[in-house]
This record gives sequence, C-alpha cells and structure tokens, in this order.
Amino acid sequence: MAAVGEMLLNAFFQVLFDRLASRDLLSFVRQLGGGVDSELKKWQRKLKMIQAVLNDAEEKQLTDEAVKMWLDDLQDLAYDAEDILDEFATQALESKLMAQNQDSSGQLLSFIPASLNPNAVRFNYTMRSKINDITSRLEQLCKERIELGLQRIPEGASSTAAAAHQRPPSSSVPPEREVFGREEDKAKILDMVLADSPSDHANFAVIPIVGMGGIGKTTLAREVYNDKAVGDSKFDVKAWVCVSDVFDVLGISKALLESITRRPCLLNSLNEVQVELKVAVDGKRFLLVLDDVWNEDYSSWVDLKAPFLAAAPNSKMIVTTRNSNVASIMGPIEHYNLKRLLDDDCWSIFKTHALEGRDHNALEISESFRKKVVGKCGGLPLAAKTLGGLLRTTRHDAWDDILESKIWDLPQQSGVLPVLRLSYTIIFLLI
Ligand SMILES: Nc1ncnc2c1ncn2[C@@H]1O[C@H](COP(=O)(O)OP(=O)(O)O)[C@@H](O)[C@H]1O
Ligand SMILES: [Mg+2]
Repeated sequence: MAAVGEMLLNAFFQVLFDRLASRDLLSFVRQLGGGVDSELKKWQRKLKMIQAVLNDAEEKQLTDEAVKMWLDDLQDLAYDAEDILDEFATQALESKLMAQNQDSSGQLLSFIPASLNPNAVRFNYTMRSKINDITSRLEQLCKERIELGLQRIPEGASSTAAAAHQRPPSSSVPPEREVFGREEDKAKILDMVLADSPSDHANFAVIPIVGMGGIGKTTLAREVYNDKAVGDSKFDVKAWVCVSDVFDVLGISKALLESITRRPCLLNSLNEVQVELKVAVDGKRFLLVLDDVWNEDYSSWVDLKAPFLAAAPNSKMIVTTRNSNVASIMGPIEHYNLKRLLDDDCWSIFKTHALEGRDHNALEISESFRKKVVGKCGGLPLAAKTLGGLLRTTRHDAWDDILESKIWDLPQQSGVLPVLRLSYTIIFLLI
C-alpha cells in the first residue's frame, strides 16, 4: 500500500513544485525584485526536504499524535502557499496584459520601472509579509521534522514513485487493444477533421481537444489519426508529435519534419528546418497532431505555424491540451471539451487491466466491488487503468482490503495531508 500513498503524496508535491518552477511565475517575481525569487527557491528546497519524509509521516500519523499535528500544519501551509502562488499568477497575468496594452497604445511608459507602479508597490509589500510568513513556517516544519524523527523514503521506493509520475511520450501507435466509450467523441472529431474549412488567413484549421490529464485526449486523437476514413480521405502528409513540457519551436519543427519525411533531420537552424518543412507541405493537404501542448506564448505559436501556411486547403492540425488558454492561442474560439467516461466504460477498462488473461469466472465480483471501483475512477480512464494495474499485481482476496484502505478515504478526512484537499481524480493528472 505504501506505493499508492507515496504516489498520491508525491503527486501533490509535484503540483507545488511545478507551480514554483513555472517560467511565467519566475520571470514575474524576478521583476518584483526584493529577493522574492530567492525566497521561492528556498521554499522549493524546504519542500523537497519535507517531501522526502512524507511517506514515513503518513504511516506514523496513525499512531503518533504529534506527527498528525505536524501534518495538519503542513496542510495549512500548503493551502496558504498555493493561495500566494495563485495571487502571483493573477498579478503576473495582469501585468502582462498591462504591458501589452501599453505597447499597443504606443505609449512609452517603460521608463517608469515596474516596481514603482503604485499597485505593484502595494502588492509587493503585502506579498512580502505573506511570503516571509510561509518561509518561517516552512523552516519550523523542517526543524520539527528532525525532532519527530521522520525518516527519508528509502531510495528504491522513492525512485519508483518518481518514475510513476513520468508518463512516457505519446506516439501514434495505439497501446490499447480496445478503446471504450469514445465512439461519439471520435465521430465528432472525425467530422471536423474531414470537413471542408474555408479560411481567409490559413489553409489549415486547428482542432483543439481540451481536457484534464488522463481523461483520454491522446487516445482519442490517436483513434482519429489512425481511422480508416482519414486514411481514405487523401491527406498527403501526416505527422504526429508529442510536444509535452517545453514548446521549443526548433525541436518541434524538427520532429514534425522527421515525422513527415521519416528521415532524421540533421539541420540545426530554425530557418533551415522551416524552409524544409515549407517544401514538405507546400501545396499539400496535411493532418498533424501536436499532442500535449502547454504553450501559452502566442509568438512561439506564430513562429511554429509559419511553414504550414503554404499547405493546401482543408489541412488540419489536432492539438491536445489540458489548458483551454493554450487552445485559444492556437485555434478557434470553440474547443472540443472531452468529458469523463461513463462508469460502465471505466469498469471495462479496469477489467481489461486487472483481469486480462485471468479466469474471470473463477473470480466472484460483487456489485458493491464494482461500484467501489468505478467510484474511485471518477470517469478517468487513466485512473481505471492505474487501479486495474495496481490490483492486477495483488492477490484477489486482498482487493477488498485495498479498496477499503484508508488511503482512498483520506480526501474526505480533514486535517490529514495536503494532498487530500485535491480530489482523488486530480491526483491522476500528474501520473
Ligand atoms: N476510452 C479509453 N479506453 C481504454 N483506455 C483508455 C481510454 N482512454 C484512455 N485510455 C487509457 O488511459 C490512459 C490515459 O489516456 P490518455 O489518452 O493518455 O489521456 P490524456 O492524453 O488525456 O492525458 C492511457 O493509458 C490510455 O491508453
Ligand atoms: Mg496525453
């Protein structure tokens, strides 16, 4: 069971680390000055120290009241830290918008340093005291961690958990033998892909598929990409690129070129690669998939799409993303919002992974067990698959114990662990 607990806890911390490492946030706090950025780095270090002992704390809290209180404090702190990061994010966005407005109105206000803007000064001042408060609470928790004798997670165990968070890059080759419950979604996306789409400014249309991690965006895009109707409809060029974390225009352009030409690309300048790409798609009708895009920078998108403007009409670019802002930057106002799966479909996925190759009839599966499983999946195929995989390696007579385990109930309890404020399903965003 430790593996599950560890997975959940680390997942939450990953959320905080991701937010703390966000490029937008860092460049914003750097502008604020006053050492805010180094303070946030300090948070990262302290949180890492705390993360290392979370697994131990999780176990000990059941028997040690002081550890439970420590975890309660940690939870409060995590809420407050998150709130501050939210405020930063809002301010960062506001200041970005302000800067854009100033640019577009042609006013030269840049001689006033950002830090002297009255709003910024006020913000800076209140934020500073909040930040200092978090830092000293973090320091306190780190000290108590030692006094409570909390231990590091053993090397092996933590690296398994870390590996569990990393989802491998996607490819267009389906890993699933069967995809459940996406017939309607697939038909709708196929209609968009095959439709004629006249446009004044580009010969290609972007089709964004938006939804939380693990909901099945990549799987749906793959189903469409490999569909016979797409094969029959004479796309001259097809390419699939898994973009994931960094939106590196040169890297993505190279990957697209390699996917189109099926040859390694040895060019290293963006200009050369884009010239080749333009030749490769010139006058041709393409279907591209950019999977798992996070980029919110409009100008990177403008750079990336340049070579594709030369394509033949009715070309399509399917983009999958968790964030609807990303989709708005790249595409039309309308996105395809992918919904959760029905319980029946989650159950089918669960069974595929938990029971495949086993004698189903020999196992007695009660209705209440089924309900418990689909309840925990929350309509997310990734949750169904993960839970199925987890139970696959467990003796059947222990399944009920696992599903009954406190780990799953933690989200409803108060004052246990920060991770637990997040619904169980959100945890799966990260793995
Ligand atoms: N409809 C489905 N039927 C069966 N398995 C699915 C289905 N949708 C997703 N999966 C599986 O669930 C996991 C997560 O799906 P994925 O498409 O990668 O989600 P996302 O791209 O939204 O993060 C994958 O391993 C995938 O194979
Ligand atoms: Mg995906």
